[in-house]
Amino acid sequence: MAEAVIGHDLLKAATLLESGHLVAIPTETVYGLAANGLNSLAVSQIFHVKNRPFFDPLILHIGDIENLDTLAQNIPEKARMLATTFWPGPLTLVLEKKDVVPEIVTSGLPTVGIRMPNHEMTLKLLQQLPFPLAAPSANPFKYVSPTSAQHVFNQLGNHIPYILDGGNCTVGLESTIVSFQGNDVFVLRLGGLSIELLESVVGPVIVSTNVTETVQAPGQLLVHYAPSCKLVPLNGIDSDELQGIILLSKYSEKKHNLKPEIRRFYLSEQGDLQEASAQLFSILRQLDDLKLNKVGFEWMEEKDLGRAINDRLKRASN
Ligand code: TXA
Ligand code: MG
Repeated sequence: MAEAVIGHDLLKAATLLESGHLVAIPTETVYGLAANGLNSLAVSQIFHVKNRPFFDPLILHIGDIENLDTLAQNIPEKARMLATTFWPGPLTLVLEKKDVVPEIVTSGLPTVGIRMPNHEMTLKLLQQLPFPLAAPSANPFKYVSPTSAQHVFNQLGNHIPYILDGGNCTVGLESTIVSFQGNDVFVLRLGGLSIELLESVVGPVIVSTNVTETVQAPGQLLVHYAPSCKLVPLNGIDSDELQGIILLSKYSEKKHNLKPEIRRFYLSEQGDLQEASAQLFSILRQLDDLKLNKVGFEWMEEKDLGRAINDRLKRASN
């Protein structure tokens, strides 16, 4: 296939998607690799291009909250509350699917992940299309998710016709995934919407992001989001053997006794967790671009977005 074109043409993106082709789309979390979510053949290409196993289900993206009821049924009250509060936004709801949702999207599960992304360009696109978009993150399976059009181009540029360029992702971590059982709310993947914000609407939630080698939600695979560079937590490691260090900020650096010659990568100079989240994946890619072999990192405080950053660091370092 010819190289992908990077552009801003919504009509071109819509035309390609309507004829069953793949288009990379921007969202506030990460870039997605999108196909017509009701067309099994179109969706199957996503798995080939990403080298993704068929047992790993996809998320459907919608442009209007009213489309929820066309794809899911028996929607719990708490799910509706979360959707009305946080959509469009970095939150995926796992709900009982309706028959229109093809098996390939859900890997044969009776449930489907649905989200309304908060990105102006992609919302416009979704609102023009008569179907939802199935879209996983636009990276090869297990590698770091893309947070810019260029990231997508670098890895998938030879496999897809078009990349819709919506700038750098503002959230920078994948969506938080939530499922429901009875009155309970489970968090299956930590992400761009914090536990604190979820709990402010539905009360206490059960965090169920247990790391496994088998797949329930592959975002839970132990090795995931991983660069080639070996990442090691700073505690206990002699920083002499490291080529670089990922730090939250210039302030947090003071906690460690670091040699001046070691290269520093600050997630946010001022220690802002929102900015740190938005920077994390592009810094992980930078380590590989610089061909670094071994880089240390410090853990964030386990609260707000720090939890999701720690989750990605943990999986990237295994
Ligand atoms: O922010 C995001 O969620 C991005 C953007 C593009 O929307 N998408 C994304 O998709 O991260 P992906 O495929 O890389 O991760 C989706 C995760 C997978 O780990 C999958 O296992 C889980 O969602 N998932 C999808 N449907 C599910 C279901 N029915 N039950 C449990 N987990 C599900
Ligand atoms: Mg992914």
